[in-house]
Amino acid sequence: MLALPLGMTLAQPRKASKFIDPDDAYKNNCLRCHSSVQAYSPAKTETIVMHMRVRANLTDQESRAILEYLQDNAVSARKGKPVKK
Ligand code: HEC
Repeated sequence: MLALPLGMTLAQPRKASKFIDPDDAYKNNCLRCHSSVQAYSPAKTETIVMHMRVRANLTDQESRAILEYLQDNAVSARKGKPVKK
């Protein structure tokens, strides 16, 4: 049923040069522990990703991809309703 590629979640080389899909990176890592992640301001999102990078054991590339993903989403969310500061 749930066939997660173990190589991705366990030992990933620091200098992985393959493209990281931000959407996948976010869903595979953050949603292991969170059912959803609330949108924060871009500055707060950066701090959050730094903290969660340790928890989720992300590579540099993954954390950057997720940061961009969340900041982009925060920007689009702000158009509809205010983002919690
Ligand atoms: C190993 C489990 C785990 C993973 C993986 C994880 N988190 Fe968390 N996260 C937590 C726990 C536990 C807390 C609450 C305690 C704390 O803040 O340290 C938390 C708190 C947060 C908070 C603070 C506000 C809230 O909703 O509670 C945000 C935002 C957040 N995480 C986002 C993320 C994002 C984004 C990712 C992916 C990069 C991620 N988390 C990955 C466990 C995890």
